[in-house]
Amino acid sequence: MATAEPGPVAGRPTDLVGRQVAGYRIEEEIGHGGMAVVYRARDLRLDRTVALKLLAPELARNTTFRLRFTRESRVAAALDHPHIVPVFEAGETEGLLYIAMRYVPGSDLRHLLDRDGPLPPGTALRIAAQIASALDAAHEHGLVHRDVKPGNVLVARGTDSDHPEHVYLTDFGLTKKSLSLTGLTTVGQFVGTLDYVAPEQISGRPVDGRCDVYALACVVHELLTGHPPFRRDDDMALLWAHQYDDPPPLTAARPDLPAAVDAVLARALAKTPDDRYDSCLAFVTALRDAARSAPRPASHPPTQLDSGPVPPRWAEPVFRRRAY
Ligand SMILES: Nc1ncnc2c1ncn2[C@@H]1O[C@H](COP(=O)(O)OP(=O)(O)OP(=O)(O)O)[C@@H](O)[C@H]1O
Ligand SMILES: [Mg+2]
Repeated sequence: MATAEPGPVAGRPTDLVGRQVAGYRIEEEIGHGGMAVVYRARDLRLDRTVALKLLAPELARNTTFRLRFTRESRVAAALDHPHIVPVFEAGETEGLLYIAMRYVPGSDLRHLLDRDGPLPPGTALRIAAQIASALDAAHEHGLVHRDVKPGNVLVARGTDSDHPEHVYLTDFGLTKKSLSLTGLTTVGQFVGTLDYVAPEQISGRPVDGRCDVYALACVVHELLTGHPPFRRDDDMALLWAHQYDDPPPLTAARPDLPAAVDAVLARALAKTPDDRYDSCLAFVTALRDAARSAPRPASHPPTQLDSGPVPPRWAEPVFRRRAY
């Protein structure tokens, strides 16, 4: 008796290498998160390399997710912005939702932070400004990202020494958190990190672009300190902290930065969206101004060392000491 070839759903991720899915030949697994596997693949129609994201089959069975996926992939595909990963196609095949997008060689911010720890302020600000411009452009199209986090920021080599890195935001509208937080996922299912989720997302209130301002501020806090603003032992405590606790001042972990940055972070992380910056760029601009403001007063008279030349840490590119 002839055995039918198993569909992609039946295969383990690595079994798919060499297989063809919806006009793409899968070449190599790039990585995976809680809800999808991403492959480097060949677009056989246009003969080009793409990143092919295959979403977990249970997501295709969730009507809420599926409807939003279809709607938001369409909007995301219409976004044409230098810091947003271009989406080429999104669809469904053999019970799998998939997205084909530009393959971005390099890494993502999650890997960079895990490998190298906090970034120099100049690098962090350059990266934050690129993410901010992508988010504001999406908001102007009525699209809220909802899942801004280091893993969704891809980092490629930049064009020149003035632009040492080029970052791309990805995964618009793909968060599972909203499903989970409204009780739509089963208990114990992986929901991803709650480190960047805004208070209004937790309480189920309507969200707009300012939930991305909050998440971006959490990411910036992590870029500068190596950890997100709230760290708790369990998810419930973390959700509580996002809703009710004051974030710790950034300068507690980075005393080298001017005290003015604390007020900027506090405003971006306000519990109520109305109290935050109106746009991501407004937040990053305020942060840049604060970071350039007078340093905190020294607790001792300046020494020879203090008054010496300022080390060029502000300009240090993310690629200078990192191999790809
Ligand atoms: N367009 C792309 N080009 C190159 N690599 C990509 C691309 N999109 C995603 N990746 C990589 O694929 C890996 C998995 O991405 P994925 O979005 O599935 O997981 P995640 O964002 O880390 O987690 P989560 O499931 O919580 O969103 C990441 O390491 C990411 O860097
Ligand atoms: Mg992702």
